[in-house]
Amino acid sequence: MSRGCGASEGALPAHVAIIMDGNGRWARARGLPRHAGHSAGVRPVRQCVEQAARRGVKVLTLFAFSSENWRRPREEVSRLMSLFLEALDRELDELHANGVVLRFIGERERLAPALQQRLAAAEMRTRANTGLVLVVAAAYGGQWDMVQTARTIAERVARGELSPAAVDQVCFEHHRTLAGLPGVDLLIRTGGEQRISNFLLWDLAYAELYFTPRLWPAFSTEDFDAALAEFAARRRRFGRTDEQLQADALPVATEASR
Ligand code: FPP
Repeated sequence: MSRGCGASEGALPAHVAIIMDGNGRWARARGLPRHAGHSAGVRPVRQCVEQAARRGVKVLTLFAFSSENWRRPREEVSRLMSLFLEALDRELDELHANGVVLRFIGERERLAPALQQRLAAAEMRTRANTGLVLVVAAAYGGQWDMVQTARTIAERVARGELSPAAVDQVCFEHHRTLAGLPGVDLLIRTGGEQRISNFLLWDLAYAELYFTPRLWPAFSTEDFDAALAEFAARRRRFGRTDEQLQADALPVATEASR
C-alpha cells in the first residue's frame, strides 16, 4: 500500500478509484431512458483517463459494474454489456498508443464469452505498456475479491507451500487481486451517495474519501482536478499523531551538522 509518507499536503494520489454513480438520475432528469445515462457516462470515463494520465496519476480504477448490478432489469444489464464492448473496441487502439495498461477485475466467468475474450485480448495487448494502469472493475464486489484472495492462500496452505503462521497482512497483500499496485489513495464517488457499496474493501483501507453530488455524466476534468486539490489539502496520518508527522517533516540533521 502507498502509505510511505505522512501528511500528504500538496501530494498527488498514486491510485485514484472512482464509483461512477448517477447515470440513471441524469437521464431521468432529461426525460430519457436509463441507458441514455449510461451512454452519456462514457465521455467522462474518457476524460478522466486522459486527465489522470496528464496529472501523473499511476493507477485509475473504475467501478463499471458491481456484483449487485446483476439484479437490474435484464434489458439494462444487456445494454450496459454492449456499451462496455463498444467502448473497448472503439478506444483500445488509442489507449494502447498512449501507453495505457488495461486490467479487468471481477467475476469474468459471469460475463458474455465475447466480452471475456476481448478483455483478455486487451490485457495481453497492453501489458508491456508503461503508462497509466487503468483497472476496470466489472461484475466486481469487494467481498468476492477478499474471498478470492482467501481461497488462493488456503489452496497454497493446502499444497504445503505456505504455513498457516505465514498468513499475515503482508501475505494477504501479496495475494490480493491488485497485488503489485499501490492501495487506493483517493476514492471519488459521484451522485451524492456516501458509501463504498462493496467496492475495493482491502485496498480502500487508507483511502481519502471524496463525495460529490455531481452526477457521473456531468463529471468534468475540472471536477477531477477539484478532487485532486482536495486530496492535496488533506492530512494523512496513517494512525500516527500530528506531532510525529511534523517531526518527520523536519529536515534530518546530517552527521556533519550535529
Ligand atoms: C451507476 O449509475 C452506473 C453504472 C451502474 C454503470 C457505469 C457505467 C458507465 C459509466 C458507462 C461507461 C463505462 C465504461 C467503463 C466504458 P446508476 O445507474 O446507479 O445511476 P442512479 O443512481 O442515478 O440510478
